Amino acid sequence: MDKEIKKLATHARTGINSASVLADLEKIYLEIFGKSGTFTNLTKQLSSIPKSKKPKIGQLLNEAKKEIEKTFEQRHNFLKKKRPKEFIDITAPGKKLKLGHLHLISQAIDEIVAIFSKLGFSLESYPEVDWDWYAFESLNMPKNHPARDDWETFFIKSAPKPHFGSQVLTPHTSNGQVREMEKLKKPPIRMLNIARCYRRQIDVSHTPMFHQFEGLFIDEYITIANLKGTLNYFTAKFFGPKRQMRLRPHYFRFTEPSFEVDVTCGVCQGSGCRFCKSGWVELGGAGMVHPKVLEAGNINPHKYTGFAFGWGIERTIAIKTGIGDIRLLYQNDIRFLEQF
Ligand code: PHE
Repeated sequence: MDKEIKKLATHARTGINSASVLADLEKIYLEIFGKSGTFTNLTKQLSSIPKSKKPKIGQLLNEAKKEIEKTFEQRHNFLKKKRPKEFIDITAPGKKLKLGHLHLISQAIDEIVAIFSKLGFSLESYPEVDWDWYAFESLNMPKNHPARDDWETFFIKSAPKPHFGSQVLTPHTSNGQVREMEKLKKPPIRMLNIARCYRRQIDVSHTPMFHQFEGLFIDEYITIANLKGTLNYFTAKFFGPKRQMRLRPHYFRFTEPSFEVDVTCGVCQGSGCRFCKSGWVELGGAGMVHPKVLEAGNINPHKYTGFAFGWGIERTIAIKTGIGDIRLLYQNDIRFLEQF
């Protein structure tokens, strides 16, 4: 029987070492040590040999088993480490680099600036943290006036300055009106002020930080007709020639008369639907600059008149694209941003 054991051990060694993948090795293991494996069968024969030979054969079997298992383990470790040879297909097409694009808000700002610059408006930017005087008081909103509550303002803890008051995060771009009058000193003034604004509010149509664009046009003989013509032009250029615009009477402390500007709904084109109900959606405020605001900016209200308008950019985008929740603009979700 010793011969048989030796033969089996040699056979097993060659078998194990020729396995090229782990699955083959597993198969060979079972062929040797499985229920009716070659080694298992040999051990079964142990019971039928003479008693005197048993210890020696038993020892041989044990040694053979140890040796085979060791070979098996070594091969197993070797195959585990071995990686398939790398294959480079030089004819495969290269990976395309994804091209990004400007954020929806930047795109809208570019478009708005382009439209108004054709009408001679020049782009200005004024502080995001500004004095109470520019944000409210110079706009005919004296301290403690209830109209200020409409602006849900963030106040800055700072020592008030005589005449200018304390500081606020600008709740609208109208803070640029008197600043622009002070800068140019004399009409004609044609300003487009685009800036971030801040208000304490958040829901589907409001974010605490948002953007506004503000137009201000001051010269001799400026009337509501000029305001309407300008806004008509903007509506046609920004929303397309099919959309209509209308002025609806409203109230602001810094314009007289004041309006709210509506455009026809992009979903139903003005016939009335579930989204807009009346066929119109509201864009933002506008009006003829109040004489007191002109005076605050040292401009003679008996000689000059002007109009102003101010709208949220996020809202304008929502009306153009039909997105229902402007908070999406700030969630940085590539699946949303890629669509524009
Ligand atoms: N500043 C106003 C607002 O934020 C909008 C507005 C601007 C109204 C200019 C009239 C003139 O609601």
